[in-house]
Amino acid sequence: MTEKKARIAVLVSGGGTNLQALIDAQGSVIRHGEIVLVIANKAEAYALTRAENANIETAVVLKKDCGSQLAFEDRIIDLLTAHNIDLIVLAGFMAILSEHFTSKYPKRIINVHPALIPSFCGKGYYGLYVHEAALAYGVKVTGATVHFVNEIPDGGEIILQKAVSVRANDTPESLQKRVMQQAEWKILPKAVELVSKSIIKES
Ligand code: GAR
Repeated sequence: MTEKKARIAVLVSGGGTNLQALIDAQGSVIRHGEIVLVIANKAEAYALTRAENANIETAVVLKKDCGSQLAFEDRIIDLLTAHNIDLIVLAGFMAILSEHFTSKYPKRIINVHPALIPSFCGKGYYGLYVHEAALAYGVKVTGATVHFVNEIPDGGEIILQKAVSVRANDTPESLQKRVMQQAEWKILPKAVELVSKSIIKES
């Protein structure tokens, strides 16, 4: 008998290296979940190609086609509902989701953030900006955080964190790469498995 798996949707905007880490972890680290849908808010996101290469269904939802934030979120909700999604993973998804969206999925949305929350997080802290801020501050340790998503940007309960050392000669780009390799790509699949397992247990 095939064991039931949590149905996962991954929301992306860019290169999708975190999506790739999730795809690669299916069947090994991720045993209680399966990625069944990838939604991008950018038509040119390379993450879409990664999903297609793995035979995962994709959809593109552009805010400009929806007319408003509410309609944008409703379009995504419709897709999630149509695919019976249990768990939503934000993996480099560079759009804010309002309470209208987050309140529908308590403890069912997780996000990976490229810093140790509560440092360098919240509005304006995304992508390379996070690493620029960490270097400008002069921290010697940074890292990544996977957390549940609620109505406060980067404010939901922390699931996993991993620290990464900053080097004297780091640039934002070199730091971003090391944080991804040493932290994000490791803790995101682990967190997805933890949450998928608990979803299956409670169902
Ligand atoms: C990752 O570093 C991710 O943590 C970050 O954007 C990058 C996306 O890379 N996300 C945020 O800053 C969200 N606040 P990827 O598309 O290669 O996974």
